[in-house]
Amino acid sequence: MCGIVGCASREHPVPGLLVESLKRLEYRGYDSAGIAVLENGELQTVREVGKIKNLEAAVGGRNLQGRTGIGHTRWATHGKPSERNAHPHRNRDGSLVVVHNGIIENYLELKHGLQATGSVFTSDTDTEVIAHLIDAHYQGDLLTAVQASLKRLEGSYAIAVIHRAEPDVVVGARQDSPLVVGLGEGRNWVASDVSALLPWTRRVVYLEDGEVVVVRSSEVRIFDRGGRVVQREPETITWSAERTEKGGYPHFMLKEIHEQPSTVSDSLLGRLAGDDYRVVLDGLGLDDEELRALTRIGIVACGTSWHAGHVGKFFLEQFARLPVEVDYASESVFREPVMGQKDLMIAISQSGETADTRAALRRAQDLFGAHTLAVCNVPGSSMAREAQGLVLTHAGPEIGVASTKAFMGQLVALLLVAVRIGQARGTISRDTIRELVSGLRRLPHDLERVLKTAAKVQEIAEVWQGARDFLYLGRGVNYPIALEGALKLKEISYIHAEGYPAGEMKHGPIALIDENMPILAIATRGRTYATIAGNVEEAKARGGRIIAVVNPGDDRVARMADHVIEVPEVAEALSPMVNVVPLQLLAYWIAVKRGTDVDQPRNLAKTVTVQ
Ligand code: AGP
Repeated sequence: MCGIVGCASREHPVPGLLVESLKRLEYRGYDSAGIAVLENGELQTVREVGKIKNLEAAVGGRNLQGRTGIGHTRWATHGKPSERNAHPHRNRDGSLVVVHNGIIENYLELKHGLQATGSVFTSDTDTEVIAHLIDAHYQGDLLTAVQASLKRLEGSYAIAVIHRAEPDVVVGARQDSPLVVGLGEGRNWVASDVSALLPWTRRVVYLEDGEVVVVRSSEVRIFDRGGRVVQREPETITWSAERTEKGGYPHFMLKEIHEQPSTVSDSLLGRLAGDDYRVVLDGLGLDDEELRALTRIGIVACGTSWHAGHVGKFFLEQFARLPVEVDYASESVFREPVMGQKDLMIAISQSGETADTRAALRRAQDLFGAHTLAVCNVPGSSMAREAQGLVLTHAGPEIGVASTKAFMGQLVALLLVAVRIGQARGTISRDTIRELVSGLRRLPHDLERVLKTAAKVQEIAEVWQGARDFLYLGRGVNYPIALEGALKLKEISYIHAEGYPAGEMKHGPIALIDENMPILAIATRGRTYATIAGNVEEAKARGGRIIAVVNPGDDRVARMADHVIEVPEVAEALSPMVNVVPLQLLAYWIAVKRGTDVDQPRNLAKTVTVQ
């Protein structure tokens, strides 16, 4: 949710560096932002409501030169977005400041105790208790004070703290919220994720839950929960800084939609055997014998990743012939799923940090003893490290809050997982594998062709930008794509949209249909074509306005439609990858025409680290 950064630098002033890093974390929240730097023995704090650009302007006017500092971009949980609730937060005399991502669950109890001993609170946040708590424990050593304070905190946190008496020291800590240490020359960092560090360094160390780090310009020391020094080799990040920039596109979302052909090529690299008859998937964490012994698969995810999970269910049932249950991660943790040691739990998450999905994954692993597999886009993320198996989606950094290319990567990864399990279990024929593999090899090219529908989609967006509601219909493997299209539209245009299995329309939603209701129907060829064509006729008969996604040469649905978007015909299992693209473009262009903030829609955050 929030993004935090901290830097200790020997020579360079840090305010500009902190702001630049915060820009790269802005996708995590954008209600307010702030930095604090240590300058001439005093802590100087700048906080602004709204986006980082407001903070940047305010920092620009201050000519700050401090070499030790922390920064924060906020997604409000406790207290409304305002200057008083913006981080960094301070203790009573302003001798220390703290930034925090997460939720302190026992903050009220702590606050009452601290107030009783004289602390005066100036914000509505849970974070402020951390500043007062560290203050209460401070006796000349920030590390010791932080370690003592953490013992009192319940909940999730990644924090960074500086104290005016300790120049060149940033203390960081994590519990259930991500924190990574960046190693540079003459300066070192902590940050919520690697994207904040890419302009400065690729050498990173991921902190584990319960660890505390002391960052100085010349050294970094990590301690475990018991205070023992931790030695961990740095990892090198291969993402380039350019991939976190817009590269000439007006929005990250449009850039990321256009990156999908390379997402597919990158996701296939090294995973298809030369003979086209096999999928090779390192990192599954299960050998052929264990795959054969599997009895069931559970999938947990949230939002767009949950939609990918539903497409994955089709793949796994069809090609691996195992029963599959897809759950909202946030719901599964309150039920008693039937799960055991011969079952596989797949957690799907772009960020690898979503609190609900992470909790469901851990529960499956620790409580039920199930095998676990993370399908993640962020190497080094919590889920990527915690699950027994890992399949990376190789979409590269996704900055737009509305997920597009990561979803594409998830679909490809899930298909590969299904085929790989099917191979081991003997439930998929060589011919089917060959058909899928050659279709996957052609998919980047097919996606390039779909992207050419952009002009047509723009025309449709122009016509329907004022609609109050939208209905998305799909069947079979494209039903989750209808859900995803509706979610994309809701998220960035704020138009109410519902995705529905087309066959269910006549059981209720048909009552909503009139001449003002645009209905997007996914009607590409495949086993559901005839039935969805019938559903489109039913909608048309009630005056509904049809936007149809069809294959070239369609003469049934296309004739009924008010608008037709043609996409290339591919194997049915690959049709979700092709069909989702015009839906992403439609949401994008409607949002642009309505003038909403496409990359950072209101109230949302890219990484949801609270349950
Ligand atoms: C996607 O457009 C959304 N912003 C959201 O639904 C997202 O997919 C969800 O929060 C899950 O995130 P994750 O994939 O990082 O776990």
